[in-house]
Amino acid sequence: MKRIKVSNNVIRRMPRYLRKLDELTEAGVSRISSGELGRQLGLTPSQIRQDFSCFGEFGQQGYGYNVAELRRQIGHILGLDQHDKIILIGAGNLGRAITVHIGFQKYGYELAGIFDSNISLENIEISGIKIMHTNRLAEFCKENHPKMAVLCIPKSGAKEMVQKLLDLGVNAFWNFSHYDIHYDHPEAAVENVHLTDSLMTLSYAARRQDEYSAEPSSEEENTEE
Ligand code: NAI
Repeated sequence: MKRIKVSNNVIRRMPRYLRKLDELTEAGVSRISSGELGRQLGLTPSQIRQDFSCFGEFGQQGYGYNVAELRRQIGHILGLDQHDKIILIGAGNLGRAITVHIGFQKYGYELAGIFDSNISLENIEISGIKIMHTNRLAEFCKENHPKMAVLCIPKSGAKEMVQKLLDLGVNAFWNFSHYDIHYDHPEAAVENVHLTDSLMTLSYAARRQDEYSAEPSSEEENTEE
């Protein structure tokens, strides 16, 4: 497979393709054209062909895509067939919810350790994994070499924790902490998650809807004339 620098926008569409291909597999569809895939995803066929061409040629002219093979290739691109170790920092409400609800294995990760600075949480199990105190982090990382950390701690402690993790060789962060890691560490691989960003984006759309429906339509204006 050829390797070129792929834009973030293309990468961000890949999970969508994957979900759609899973749906098609479940529905018993084994082959699909870029036209039909585009129709189902609200993208143009040329957009789809362009996205996939970043990684090589997946389809065959005139035959469309083999759904199982395309799913395997996209899974490979996203690293789903890997088995890297990941750790989670902060075993509070959010950390517990993520541990319980995100099946890391499905995404190429093994949740190998959960850490918290609250000593009273030590040895409590979440999904079969015992919480460790953060004073065991260094020893754990030296033995297990986790690739990535999920940060579920308040912003106040995140800066120090990120520095510590970087020093221990962890340089990728699924960051829920509201601390801007890139500002201090532009070289780190970071995906910030702010659930409320999505709510605010929706709020904007919902309020525009209200505004449009409050505006008199052209028909109403005509009636008043
Ligand atoms: P929580 O208070 O239930 O849990 C936080 C846990 O982190 C506690 O167990 C605490 O002992 C531990 N902790 C605090 N500082 C630590 C440190 N330096 N090292 C290791 N463990 C530490 O809070 P919750 O609800 O789980 O939220 C966690 C953080 O995530 C909050 O700061 C919140 O603002 C943020 N958050 C972000 C969201 C997002 O969309 N990005 C959504 C919800 C929460």
